[in-house]
Amino acid sequence: MIEINNVCFSFEKEVLKDINVNIESGKFYTILGPNGSGKTTLLRILSKSLPMEKGEIFIDEVDLTQIKPKVLAKEMAVVPQSTEIEFDFSVQDIVLMGRTPHISRFCSESEKDIKIAMNAMKITNTWELRNKSINALSGGEKQRVVVARAIAQETGIILLDEPISHLDIHHQIEIMNQLKELNQNKNITIIAVLHDLNLAAAYCDHMILMHNCGVYKDGIPEEVLTEDIIKKVYGLDVYITKNPKTKKTFIMPF
Ligand SMILES: Nc1ncnc2c1ncn2[C@@H]1O[C@H](COP(=O)(O)OP(=O)(O)OP(=O)(O)O)[C@@H](O)[C@H]1O
Ligand SMILES: [Mg+2]
Repeated sequence: MIEINNVCFSFEKEVLKDINVNIESGKFYTILGPNGSGKTTLLRILSKSLPMEKGEIFIDEVDLTQIKPKVLAKEMAVVPQSTEIEFDFSVQDIVLMGRTPHISRFCSESEKDIKIAMNAMKITNTWELRNKSINALSGGEKQRVVVARAIAQETGIILLDEPISHLDIHHQIEIMNQLKELNQNKNITIIAVLHDLNLAAAYCDHMILMHNCGVYKDGIPEEVLTEDIIKKVYGLDVYITKNPKTKKTFIMPF
């Protein structure tokens, strides 16, 4: 369980104002909202890459400020919105880095670590790329490698910031299916920022919709994706129906 209480943050201006959200373990969450609404900032605060200005966050009742980086890295994997990797590491090296929190100091990776990394590459379709340099990949290939690294980290929580923004539709569905499988079979809590409202509705249990520095609405897709809310938050007229095959909420702008 992640408890976010009254979290505030500003850069030059206020970006997050009084964020209150409870995230239940083992569920699939999506964070939605227009550009600049604070989604990345919230994920960065959750992963301690930005300090909180005000408020409190508890992970399984432990105050986030008291959790050491190595301990947090065993509990939470992060797929950032963009990943710049300066050195020419191979894909395999990058995915193996996901194992770092599990490897004792002065030790190198074990056969088990290599197996876990290999499996993460196989399920993200990056195994064929394993010997290539990370900087010689396309945007979508690189994104899949960073997801593989997060999977290899074997944490109870995975935070993903637009993990499928560069992927073709086949790979989008493949990664979303993998995340759902990890969520359902291994009880991993998934928190993914997405822009595609229909994909979000197809996969998540719960949505957090951000707008104007705050959480505008959180709830199940049927509660969040209403014509009225989409008009207020995105300024768009939409028709809302159900996908005839899956019965999930489906939005069509007009
Ligand atoms: N490093 C920074 N310095 C100053 N302002 C920043 C910085 N990072 C983000 N901001 C501002 O904070 C606000 C929220 O940014 P954030 O990246 O959290 O938005 P977002 O919801 O993730 O948007 P997007 O959908 O475009 O990724 C924006 O107005 C942005 O300009
Ligand atoms: Mg962002």
